[in-house]
Parts: sequence; C-alpha cells; structure tokens
Amino acid sequence: MTEFNRSNWAKAEFSQEYRDNADIYIVERRRLLEILKSFYKHFLCNKQQKKVLDLGCGDGIITHEFLKVDDFLSATLVDGSEDMLDKAKERLRGFKNIQFIKASFQEILEKKILHQTFDFVVSSLAIHHLTMKEKIALFKNIYSCLNVGGHFMNIDVILAPVENLEHWYMTLWKEWIDERKALLGIAGDLYDDIIRRYKDNKDNKPDTLGDQLGALKKIGFKDVDCFYKYGVFTMYGGKK
Ligand SMILES: C[S@@+](CC[C@H](N)C(=O)[O-])C[C@H]1O[C@@H](n2cnc3c(N)ncnc32)[C@H](O)[C@@H]1O
Repeated sequence: MTEFNRSNWAKAEFSQEYRDNADIYIVERRRLLEILKSFYKHFLCNKQQKKVLDLGCGDGIITHEFLKVDDFLSATLVDGSEDMLDKAKERLRGFKNIQFIKASFQEILEKKILHQTFDFVVSSLAIHHLTMKEKIALFKNIYSCLNVGGHFMNIDVILAPVENLEHWYMTLWKEWIDERKALLGIAGDLYDDIIRRYKDNKDNKPDTLGDQLGALKKIGFKDVDCFYKYGVFTMYGGKK
C-alpha cells in the first residue's frame, strides 16, 4: 500500500467532509482565494503562455478561481485521490485544455511523472502532508519543472517556531471557527473538535514557515516571501 493510500485522504468520506466544511474551518479561505487570484492577475494574466500545475488539487477550486479571470490558461491538476479528481472533473467540465493526473506527491518524486514545464505551480493545503525531507524534494522538483520567470505559490498550514506561539495560533483558529459559527447561526459543538483532529492526525506534518522559505531560497527560488499569514495559515512562494 502506498503512503497516500494509508492516509485519511484515500477515504471518500474524509474528502467529502472537507469539501462540505472547508469554508467554515479554513481560516479566511475566501480571502486566500482572492489574494491568490490577485497574484494570478498581476503576474500571469498578461503572459502569452500560462501553463498551470495545481498540486493536491482537491475538487479543483484553485484552478477554477483562475479560470474565472482567464479561460485561456491550460492546467494540469494532480491529486492522489480518485474521488477528489472526479469532483475536480465535474467542477471543470466544459473548460478546455485541462488535464488530470492521479498521482501522490511521493509517486511524482519517485517516478518522475511530470514531463512538462509550467509557468505557475500552485498548491493549497496539501504539502503539509509531507515530511520536511519530502517537502524539499518536491520543491526541487517544482523548481525543475518551472519555466524561467515562472512562479510557485503554496497556501498551507505551518508549525509555529515556538510552542507558546503554536498555542496562541490554535486559539486564534478556534476564535475564527467560533466567529463563523456565530455568523452562520450554527449551534452546538459542531466543528469544536477540528483543531484537536488536526493536531492528532498523523498525516499532518507541518514545518515552520522559516524552514520552508529557507528551503526555497537554498534551491534557487528568487523573490521568496510570505504573501499572507494568519496564525498557522500562510501563503508563500517564489519565482524561478
Ligand atoms: C485539504 S485538501 C485541499 C484541496 C484543494 N487544494 C483546496 O485547497 O481545497 C488536500 C488535498 O491534497 C491531496 N493530498 C493529500 N496528500 C497527498 C499526497 N501525498 N499526494 C497527492 N495528493 C495529496 C488530498 O487528496 C486532497 O485532495
């Protein structure tokens, strides 16, 4: 059994739960998507060639956001979950130049599955499932399949550099969920165990933002920066 198939994401009910509830428990998800779209419009929209790679695409929400502002792009969506890819195919039905690949990040690294180059590699809330060693290997892989001038952007959860901050970030996250619940009129203890589930889930292997930015710079990425941060939720990347 592969590493991915042992993870919760291989279970259809787990990915369904994420699709149903992500807007409630992913901090500022809609804001993150707006920032990502702004980045795309600023750096990619006017380029002649726009080949996008969406790693851990889930139901295709990220690529769909780009398509809302630019339907001339071509995109390759990769995910280890057949179920997620089916949802992505459903969501993106009717758009041209979209390719889907069922592969885990581990398979990408081992079997060199990506044979094309891209202008924008994006990933959202997926790379934290890799160890730091695997993250570095994936970042190198991303760098090698980016065209010169191309960008990499990762939206992801990170580990705080010290425990005190990690505790506060978890409180901040809980406050966000409580605020959403109040706003949507959700009563009871629904979503109250999300943070415990996140911490207990062995599939989550977040590393510090500093380590990840440092790894990108060491690999050769330029203009490396954190574009957004709210507790453990971040958006960071760089350029080849
Ligand atoms: C939290 S969801 C995010 C989906 C989408 N990017 C979004 O922002 O809504 C994480 C996605 O990463 C995929 N994933 C998790 N671990 C993976 C791995 N090792 N290789 C490939 N895909 C993986 C899951 O199947 C799932 O679709």
